[in-house]
Amino acid sequence: MNKIRVCCLFGGVSEEHEVSIVSAASVLSVMDRDKYEITTVGITKEGKWLLYEGALSDLTKDSWLLYATKESFFVPDPNGGRLMIVGDTPETRQIDVAFPVMHGKNGEDGTLQGLFDICGVRYVGCGCLSSAVSMDKATAKMILKNYNIPQAMAMAVDRREIERDPIRIAMACESLGYPLFVKPSASGSSCGVSRVNSADELLPALHKALLSDRRVLIEEYIKGAEVEVAVLGEDGIFAAEPGEIVPGSEFYDYETKYVNNTATYHIPARISEKAREKVKAYAKKIFRALDCKGLARVDFFVDGERVVFNEINTMPGFTSISMYPKMMEASGIAYRELIDRLIQSALA
Ligand SMILES: Nc1ncnc2c1ncn2[C@@H]1O[C@H](COP(=O)(O)OP(=O)(O)O)[C@@H](O)[C@H]1O
Ligand SMILES: [Mg+2]
Repeated sequence: MNKIRVCCLFGGVSEEHEVSIVSAASVLSVMDRDKYEITTVGITKEGKWLLYEGALSDLTKDSWLLYATKESFFVPDPNGGRLMIVGDTPETRQIDVAFPVMHGKNGEDGTLQGLFDICGVRYVGCGCLSSAVSMDKATAKMILKNYNIPQAMAMAVDRREIERDPIRIAMACESLGYPLFVKPSASGSSCGVSRVNSADELLPALHKALLSDRRVLIEEYIKGAEVEVAVLGEDGIFAAEPGEIVPGSEFYDYETKYVNNTATYHIPARISEKAREKVKAYAKKIFRALDCKGLARVDFFVDGERVVFNEINTMPGFTSISMYPKMMEASGIAYRELIDRLIQSALA
């Protein structure tokens, strides 16, 4: 049997560079070497693509660069899948499928997927358009409004508006009421997200969000448990058993996610049967509406039977202990099998 030639990509320019390294190391640790011939490409924080030639144990944020010296890139060729490796003796390697274990900007936002399309590379996960739309919270919400998906009332403002007319924005916020949430339209890992308790906190929050994106979303506060649904898109669309995050802090911010470890989770989520059916049905509807493929994690707030969409991630945290794989596991799809199925469906 010919092995499937997989190119696993990690790192990248986004704020989630480090998270991506952990996700990729986890994926690589379970991939069956009898089945897959694996090439690994790391992308630096500056955006340079380098072939990773180190051991799995050195694939950490602090040491991977020591084992990555050769620039590597896909060649634009519609019949392609050709990875060019530039070293003392340049080499091209044929790739059957790319697995971008990359989060956020230039990883999960459609840009990388567009590059794969141009280079004739098949890849795991959502396509260019659905990645781009899903990454941009303001755009995703606008589309999902047409599908009657319940969501927080929101307003999108851009850098120019914030700089020129903050008073008008502050006045408009009165109708959303405090507290409210301010977040970059396209970011992740809670970078730049603030809970704003009163008008005097608004401007600093807007400027913080502007550090991650030029467009900022201001949302009404939604009370409720944070419930996530892992969706797997193959021939059909499968929604796993929903899980619930309990931040253990004011909200699920960056510190809670990656520094303090105060968050706990419950799988299955502690919600009513009716709410459970609702979130699963909405998650599938959203996956279809945004034309997703492969995988996505769809996040909601649930209060009693009220279900409100929060956001969708097309390359969610993917370590073996991340919510997406854990929810799949709770529904009978183990981590290694999940990776096999994602690769299979990318090749289909
Ligand atoms: N409208 C909202 N109401 C209540 N909490 C919110 C709201 N929006 C965001 N949050 C809180 O902020 C966290 C991060 O926001 P989110 O939109 O999920 O951004 P990210 O893509 O960075 O994860 C959420 O998990 C939740 O705890
Ligand atoms: Mg989130």
